[in-house]
Amino acid sequence: EKGNYRHFMQKEIFEQPAVVANTLSSYVRPYDGKVALPDNDLDLSAIDRVTIVACGTSFYAGMVAKYWIEQFARVPVDIDVASEFRYRDPVLEKGSLALFISQSGETADTLAALEHSRACGQIIAAVVNVPTSAMAREADLLLPTHAGPEIGVASTKAFTCQLAVLAAFAANLARAKGKLSEEEEREIVKHLQEAPEAINDALGHDDDIQAMAHLVAPARDVLYLGRGPDYPLALEGALKLKEISYIHAEGYAAGEMKHGPIALIDDAVPVIVLAPSGPLFEKTVSNMQEVRARGGKIIFISDAKGLAEAGDGCVATIEMPEAHPLIQPIVYAVPVQLLAYHVAVLKGTDVDQPRNLAKSVTVE
Ligand code: M6R
Repeated sequence: EKGNYRHFMQKEIFEQPAVVANTLSSYVRPYDGKVALPDNDLDLSAIDRVTIVACGTSFYAGMVAKYWIEQFARVPVDIDVASEFRYRDPVLEKGSLALFISQSGETADTLAALEHSRACGQIIAAVVNVPTSAMAREADLLLPTHAGPEIGVASTKAFTCQLAVLAAFAANLARAKGKLSEEEEREIVKHLQEAPEAINDALGHDDDIQAMAHLVAPARDVLYLGRGPDYPLALEGALKLKEISYIHAEGYAAGEMKHGPIALIDDAVPVIVLAPSGPLFEKTVSNMQEVRARGGKIIFISDAKGLAEAGDGCVATIEMPEAHPLIQPIVYAVPVQLLAYHVAVLKGTDVDQPRNLAKSVTVE
């Protein structure tokens, strides 16, 4: 079943161009430049607030979606991890939308949060990969990802497919709210369509990433930094590394470094910086310089332009394709997945079945 791959996780990482394309084909219409949702009788124009609830990697997809929904649709978004949401008595106005994200569709805390939200009069939307799951059955608006079965405990292809669906959902909501011109919608469709090719391009750096895994494998602690939609990607990179290589890792918003974590920096702590060129680039680079000035070893993930501007003095760089900001989070998922994978292989851990973890967390 693994074909030529050594692990399911590796196979699933490399399936991403195909499964993201497959997922997108249900949500974008290249022939007329429109985004589309599965048939439903909801009036999205009436939605004035969105609450996103999920766990783990799916939660990080939700964090990226918050940027998109607020940016495109100008609808405020709250986001919580399911285990906190359930017990904090959130204020949920009747008729708002609660959006649940889950690969398995069976995560106990997320499912309980869904039931609580329904009882509070929320409209229930769910981004789910397993079509027969409890969450898929319970949703008023089911937004399936078509990633196919994900076997590796570390979520990879489900995440990028969730992002594809969430970007299309944000655009649909924006259109319903009258916030998207036809031209803007056409642009979004065009850029989403570029994602599979850009992922493919990112996968082309597998050998370089495998080589630089040697820099990370001996570390005791690793930091990941990003800004804006790359901040959740930093969190995701740290989670991937923790769960399969058992190295302690933390993701931070780049601008938070000087509020504490910079105290950890010395030459034994690799710092992985995710910074595509664009409006936030200079800000992230200046945080990166602060790290470098304290002896931090930087692995810099950016595009050709970003690397030319700020790549000097990094211990390693990974060149990502130039990608439109909309699809950057989808593309930048690839190097953090591959890095975690290769570090875990070097450390000899059980990549697909890491210790203490289950694929689907059906107890709270
Ligand atoms: O099936 P779900 O998406 O609801 O699962 C949520 C988390 O348990 C899951 O993403 C977990 O964090 C993964 N092991 C991350 O790789």
